[in-house]
Amino acid sequence: MKIRKAVIPAAGLGTRMLPISRTVPKEMLPIVDKPAISSLVEEAAAAGAEDILIITGRGKDAIENYFDYSVEYEQKLLASGKLDKIEEMRKICSVANVYFLRQKETRGLGHAVLTAKNFVGNEPFYILYGDDVIMSEKPVCAQMSDAFEKYGKPVCGVKPVPWELVAKYCSLKAESIADGVYNVTDMIEKPRPDEVYTNLSILGRVLLTPEIFDILEETPPGAGGEIQLTDAMRVVAKSGGMTAIDFEGTRFDFGSKLGFLKANVTAAVNHPEVGEEFRAFLKEFVKTL
Ligand code: UTP
Repeated sequence: MKIRKAVIPAAGLGTRMLPISRTVPKEMLPIVDKPAISSLVEEAAAAGAEDILIITGRGKDAIENYFDYSVEYEQKLLASGKLDKIEEMRKICSVANVYFLRQKETRGLGHAVLTAKNFVGNEPFYILYGDDVIMSEKPVCAQMSDAFEKYGKPVCGVKPVPWELVAKYCSLKAESIADGVYNVTDMIEKPRPDEVYTNLSILGRVLLTPEIFDILEETPPGAGGEIQLTDAMRVVAKSGGMTAIDFEGTRFDFGSKLGFLKANVTAAVNHPEVGEEFRAFLKEFVKTL
């Protein structure tokens, strides 16, 4: 089944990326030369999403401006005959219909997703957490859509995380049903040590059905005083179950300084324009460490 819609919550304040996040939304920080959010839009579009809603907030206008034509640049490029560059820039906003909606208060990821209720309507949809960048051969959204087709249940993208870090993420009660595939019957956000089920955590991608909205409307604030998407997905997992896939790909926590740096080094060594020189630089640089 083709999943036509995607939601990208990107309204979080990004306190871990202060001070830059005071004026530059963390989603607009670059992976070499493109803002991170651009790769999320491309991933959703590559997995079939035609309509993509980005949830923004105050101070995040730069995101909206990025997905628009840029007349001044186009005039300059036209004058110098760089028509292919114009084409490349226009592609940024033509891969899908990109919509924007503001979450007026940052009351949590679950609350951000709830604002997408009318946009989503009555069909399954992808959620891409705005600060989780994943580099993979096949878009993780497409991997989830395959699992949805096969197992018929909402899907979450997961990875085993180091046991000592599970408390920072969520923990899934999951049983293996195939290689890298699990049936999930419960989950808990930011578990205490005695609440941990497994070290499988949801990392940045889920495919949900619209039943989540009625559940979110009834979900009280949870960990950190925020309305947690995990608390709502827990209800789904406990009633009909969810499928978890240990996705192929490398995930970077782009909302953290270290994740931002790792994503950039990884992308830079493979970059068609600067990759070769950057690799040479890096080889010399590591000798000095
Ligand atoms: P995070 O908790 O990682 O984002 O939320 P944050 O709150 O911006 O980060 P820190 O901890 O202060 O550094 C995960 C995702 O949910 C979005 C964020 O933008 C991020 O993509 N989010 C979070 C919202 O859209 N709205 C919220 O109220 C909270």
